Amino acid sequence: MSTRLFTFNGGDTGPWRIAKTETVVGEPLPAAKRLDISSAPESPSRPYAVWVLRGITSNERYGVREEEKSRIVSMQQSLGLPESTCAALIPIRKNAAWWALSHNERQNIFEQQSRHAGIGLDHFPELPRRLHHCRDLSENEPFDFITWFEYSPAQEAAFDQLLAALRATAEWKYVEREIDIRLVREDD
Ligand code: HEM
Repeated sequence: MSTRLFTFNGGDTGPWRIAKTETVVGEPLPAAKRLDISSAPESPSRPYAVWVLRGITSNERYGVREEEKSRIVSMQQSLGLPESTCAALIPIRKNAAWWALSHNERQNIFEQQSRHAGIGLDHFPELPRRLHHCRDLSENEPFDFITWFEYSPAQEAAFDQLLAALRATAEWKYVEREIDIRLVREDD
């Protein structure tokens, strides 16, 4: 029984209303109104979903500086806070050139050249987030990563600045598909 598998169903149902979808690069996704997330190991298929994205949480692949690691641990907040009524679902695919690099080369671009975690800590250290890996499921998934972030309406500007800073890094030159989906929680 694994609860590391998360399924994101875009369609007509679910507690998250899709407020805006921006295709940053690559092929768009079909338009959907709402998002339903399930983490059951065998979640029933959603016949009315217009897209289904799946990813699995995993161990960390890249080392970050010890000092950054302890700041992430002490600052990062939990998902599901009552004030986190906004979310961003950003599926990302990196190109063949990225995957042709060695682990050490990717690590160097991620940490030394791009300061990925450092930029996150500079802009929004408390940001609740979860990273899902898709390549661990199969080679044929449409994305490599599904990223999920939650924040309050007042924190949206900080989130946007963080994203802009990350998209300007060497790491993002390898991103060939990215969809920025913004959501608002509307619980029943
Ligand atoms: C406080 C903010 C953030 C922090 C501290 C942070 C930190 C990290 C860390 C430590 C990893 C490596 C995990 C591993 O070793 O597997 C990672 C991976 C990743 N993060 Fe972030 N991140 C932040 C925000 C973001 C944002 C806003 C995005 C935008 C979509 C993002 C996209 C990704 C992606 C796609 C990966 C996987 C990279 C790869 O394995 O090639 N992160 N992040």
